[in-house]
Amino acid sequence: MITPHQEYEIDDNVSRLDLARVHGWLTTSYWSPGVSREIVERAARNSSLVVGAYHNSVQVAYTRVVSDRTTFAWLCDVFVDEAHRGKGLARAMVRFALAHPEHQNFRRWLLATRDAHGVYKSIGFEPLTSVERWMAYYPPKISAKQPGKPL
Ligand SMILES: CC(C)(COP(=O)(O)OP(=O)(O)OC[C@H]1O[C@@H](n2cnc3c(N)ncnc32)[C@H](O)[C@@H]1OP(=O)(O)O)[C@@H](O)C(=O)NCCC(=O)NCCS
Repeated sequence: MITPHQEYEIDDNVSRLDLARVHGWLTTSYWSPGVSREIVERAARNSSLVVGAYHNSVQVAYTRVVSDRTTFAWLCDVFVDEAHRGKGLARAMVRFALAHPEHQNFRRWLLATRDAHGVYKSIGFEPLTSVERWMAYYPPKISAKQPGKPL
């Protein structure tokens, strides 16, 4: 599925991803510093949906969705190349994911962000309610390069 956005193409084709470029972004991100290429690639291949944005066939942004394709989805690894920020690409990719035919009628979508709440708020995301009901588990044997505790 390909959707145009200004001079960009938003595409869910996993084989079109430039995983070297995606790794270059994610390994510098605040949530997965130092993440290996192998983990980036495995995570992409095991995601229910990957979303790339392309400019003249060069990938300029990425996000992915982890989901059972029935009730629940986790949106993560949203990254827009610095030269292409401020053009609505992050929002366009998130809207693309929310509209994806294999990701409809869910009970809930989740995401975590340190400071980009504004990107998601305008699309309809809101802070967690009943925070006391939620728990997280961070496996202890994770290496220093792959810290379990996010954000
Ligand atoms: C955050 C990021 C994905 C935004 O991408 P983008 O394509 O520039 O975002 P968009 O153009 O779709 O939307 C930006 C809107 O969100 C708002 N916003 C809120 N927090 C923001 C933030 N931390 N960074 C950028 N925009 C933010 C902007 O003000 C803008 O609103 P406006 O259109 O009303 O002016 C991009 O800056 C990025 O990749 N940053 C590094 C990685 C990162 O932090 N990813 C998000 C993880 S949750």
